Amino acid sequence: MRSYSFKNVSEQLFAFDLNKAIHEALVIAKHEYNHIATIALNLEELPQLFCDPAQISQVILNLIINSSHAIKSQNRSSHGKIEIKTWGTDESISCSVTDDGPGIPEHVISKIVEPFFTTKEPGKGTGLGLSICYDIIVNKHKGSLSAACLPEGGTAFTFSLPVTRGLSA
Ligand SMILES: Nc1ncnc2c1ncn2[C@@H]1O[C@H](COP(=O)(O)OP(=O)(O)OP(=O)(O)O)[C@@H](O)[C@H]1O
Ligand SMILES: [Mg+2]
Repeated sequence: MRSYSFKNVSEQLFAFDLNKAIHEALVIAKHEYNHIATIALNLEELPQLFCDPAQISQVILNLIINSSHAIKSQNRSSHGKIEIKTWGTDESISCSVTDDGPGIPEHVISKIVEPFFTTKEPGKGTGLGLSICYDIIVNKHKGSLSAACLPEGGTAFTFSLPVTRGLSA
């Protein structure tokens, strides 16, 4: 299933506007977060990035949907918050997706990028989302992906990408 997900991987790199892709992902994922979370954007002006746009957009989408599901699982009476930030240097650009959901327990956080690891009930999650994100960011684009539980509660996922870099097989 995992290799099927990468059937359409492009070997070509294209100029990519990460901030624009975040706005587009928010339109696509609106039905996931609309009644669940308020979105806060803090997007800085970024250097141009060369990457596989479809893959990086998939990562953004997966992170937004995971945050929405995490907040939804709390069955709150009021909206949660998802904050998306971008920042960059001449060498790399970074993006974080932070939510005020339940956080990730210590014994779980080391497993979340394993293929098929999920805490969702059967039929609700494949457990492939973050393993695909890891493959795209770390293996394919030679970037980094990290997850952190916040002291105030909630979770922050951050990925960084080198501004120019070829894809690796
Ligand atoms: N923002 C988050 N807050 C809390 N837990 C999270 C968050 N994102 C991921 N997780 C945890 O990591 C697990 C793995 O995430 P992953 O995206 O790989 O799979 P999934 O969301 O369960 O299923 P799928 O993405 O395939 O539908 C989740 O089941 C959940 O336990
Ligand atoms: Mg997921």
